[in-house]
Amino acid sequence: MEKTLIDQYGRTLNYLRLSVTDRCNFRCYYCMPEEGVNFVERKDLLTYEELEYLLAIFSEYGVNKVRITGGEPFVRKGIMDFLEKMSRMQGINQITVTSNGTLDRDQMIILKRLGIKKINISLDSLNRQRFFEITRRDKFDEVFQCILDLLGMGFDVKLNAVVADKKNISDILPFIELTKAYDLSVRFLEEMPFNGSGSFEVPKWNHVVLYEYIAAAYPNLIKLSDEKNSTSANYRIPGYKGSFGIIASFSRTFCGTCNRIRLSATGEFRTCLYGPANTNLRDVLRSGASREELIREIVLAVAKKEKDGFEAEARQAEAPKKSMSFLGG
Ligand code: 5AD
Ligand code: SF4
Repeated sequence: MEKTLIDQYGRTLNYLRLSVTDRCNFRCYYCMPEEGVNFVERKDLLTYEELEYLLAIFSEYGVNKVRITGGEPFVRKGIMDFLEKMSRMQGINQITVTSNGTLDRDQMIILKRLGIKKINISLDSLNRQRFFEITRRDKFDEVFQCILDLLGMGFDVKLNAVVADKKNISDILPFIELTKAYDLSVRFLEEMPFNGSGSFEVPKWNHVVLYEYIAAAYPNLIKLSDEKNSTSANYRIPGYKGSFGIIASFSRTFCGTCNRIRLSATGEFRTCLYGPANTNLRDVLRSGASREELIREIVLAVAKKEKDGFEAEARQAEAPKKSMSFLGG
């Protein structure tokens, strides 16, 4: 019988989001404090060998899609060699990456050669000053050039913009205008409580407010059909080359079709971004567990996947204090 990871609600979990580092060269306000971030020590990271070992198990159990995230994945030494190895692994037939857009041309060329087609770039503003205020780094020009290069090389590019009051509301319509000339997809995300501080306000600009704001500016927008496990509701403006989407990342409207599991750079295994770690696979592995024991650990954790992100959140004793860079975006 085909081996699959299946939860108590019958959902097949075939999509792993793998954070390879919690480090980042940006300091986005919704992800990290400006100073004094306590990054994980190197010895606590899963080594590339350990990652390969775990990935082989996941792929044997039906995981066929892996997203590499961070932190910023391209700041980890050896990441390109690891991607190369991954691209040769049996069963993993789609590798995608999320980056803040500071990867260099050589890295882009390697991604292309490895057959990686889809890349998500986090970009919250098209305005240099606002970009600086959001990321605390003056890198807008570099990131925008990276996006143009990726498009020029034929990558399928998605831009992820976290929308928040007093930060980048005036960027929403310019982002949609960007899809006029460029065949890319801009997705607007609700802010989530993973900023590393433990304090958070429910986002005013939720998916409904966002939709109404955009629909008022573009009454002729067309709803596109969404892919099976999609987290975004997608739209296009007639005549525009690209498209845009709205992701209810805080409202969590899409949990019913969730196919995702997550592994942090330190081995924390989560069946939901909003929930506590179900187990730490690094610790299980380093305690000398057999392959069978590891598999049992994973299968058990997966079976208990929470119904949705609200149920997962309720399992946490305290408000989330972790940064998205640790959890893996
Ligand atoms: N809320 C919403 N999105 C976030 N991201 C990081 N932290 C948060 C947060 N607190 C996004 C990044 C990137 C992806 C990895 O997750 O902008 O697009
Ligand atoms: Fe870095 Fe992404 Fe976190 Fe921004 S959101 S600090 S780019 S990991």
